[in-house]
Amino acid sequence: MRKVVRSFDEWRAAARELIARRVQPEYVEWAASDEEGDLFSAADAPAAAPTSAAGAASVSVSAEQPAAAGNGEAIGDAIGVARREASVLRLPRELMEMLASAACFSATDRWAFLYQVVWRWQLGERDVMSAADPDGARLYAMVKAVHREEHDMHAYVRFRERKEEDGAPRFVAWFEPTHEVLPQVARHFARRMGNATWMIATPAATVLWDGAQLHDVPSRMRSAADIDDAGEALWLTYYRSIFNPARLNADLLRSHIPSRFWKNLPEGAIVPAMISGAANGERRTGQTGTVGRRSGATTIAVTPERAQPQREQPDTLDQCRRCELWRDATQAVPGVGPKKARIMLVGEQPGDQEDLQGLPFVGPAGAVLDRALAEAGVRRDHVYLTNAVKHFKWELRGKRRLHKTPAQREVSACHVWLEEELARVRPDVVVALGATALKSVLKDGSATMSSVMDAPFEHEGRWVVAVYHPSFVLRARDEESRQQAYEVIVAGLRQALTLGPVRSG
Ligand code: URA
Repeated sequence: MRKVVRSFDEWRAAARELIARRVQPEYVEWAASDEEGDLFSAADAPAAAPTSAAGAASVSVSAEQPAAAGNGEAIGDAIGVARREASVLRLPRELMEMLASAACFSATDRWAFLYQVVWRWQLGERDVMSAADPDGARLYAMVKAVHREEHDMHAYVRFRERKEEDGAPRFVAWFEPTHEVLPQVARHFARRMGNATWMIATPAATVLWDGAQLHDVPSRMRSAADIDDAGEALWLTYYRSIFNPARLNADLLRSHIPSRFWKNLPEGAIVPAMISGAANGERRTGQTGTVGRRSGATTIAVTPERAQPQREQPDTLDQCRRCELWRDATQAVPGVGPKKARIMLVGEQPGDQEDLQGLPFVGPAGAVLDRALAEAGVRRDHVYLTNAVKHFKWELRGKRRLHKTPAQREVSACHVWLEEELARVRPDVVVALGATALKSVLKDGSATMSSVMDAPFEHEGRWVVAVYHPSFVLRARDEESRQQAYEVIVAGLRQALTLGPVRSG
């Protein structure tokens, strides 16, 4: 007798049938591949492997009919016992769950072993679920190893973002699990990553999440090196920002992250340098420049006063504690652009992407700004781009960090940095993108856009052009208002291009 199945569910169906037919374990030959043929139930085997949503790896199993001669007694005994039990195989939920987990354990005899367990249970041998029993002990060990592997995969899968223009999937990860835990791990990430598209590839199987459903897909990768690595810089920035040298226990770190994972972790390359930095004195300065307080996390107790004793202005933006926003941000985002730019664009504050990348206007609002700059004929690399507030202020909504408008005291606290940039870059024209920027540029918390948007005006020896913020375009309620807001930005940028130095006198 042969039976081909490709998943735990199919194994369960096969086992149920074999038990009903009183086939003893020693007369069943289970194989891990269906290449050997399918004499018994190819007809009733599903045509295709279930997707990962079914919860089991695709494995083929075949069962062979026991030789009739010479085994009559053993079979007869077994049938006798089995007949006294119900003919329908019923297993406690706990055992079923253990069997389902153990089915993911990579061992060539796993299906035979699981059948052996079921057979013994069916005979009334409840010891088979005890860790004192040799089969029970093995079952527990398999379950534990599989759970451990699931945990490791949750912790060490690193999604790397691909370029938007390359299409779906946006995030790709490579992992080499010891056991076949990809389906359940994929479901774990499907629950957590919303509708972003992603793919996890392993040497044996690949799963794709299309934003709504999981699919088993043909493998396209052979190693982590096949991943397009656009997102790695982001991840390393994040990792550096959460790394706290003051709390480093290098031995613990090594013991928590087994070395087999290191080669596929992007941070694997930077951790040794951070460990040696910690050993060389960074424990004392800790994460003053980068760490942000996150909900539920313990942070170093540093008040603004203690971090910057008696100093009105810290030496560097990285060290700024003039308001509380540094606590929740990944990093401060300074302005960028030519040393001497004729035009300076001032936004409100970095957004989620800017916070991670450390650069202004690289997220969705940045895309609108880029379009407007191009339409106005202004080259982005010719202007100086900065923000009124240099740390990202946000609140958690679900899994997303949503922008929160900075308070006036935060705008005022950050003003020294804008002043420093204005003094250094000495632009002829400042384009204030939105009300927060305008208030900071004018040092006037009551300034309003409506009073100054009509025309450029002079302020402290330079021109100021006030236009809508690009995110105002994104938030506009209909296409017409969107277009109007966008045109105001383009017109303001065109105007900025025509303005020269303010003539004195
Ligand atoms: N919005 C801003 O005001 N600045 C940025 O850098 C990004 C979004």
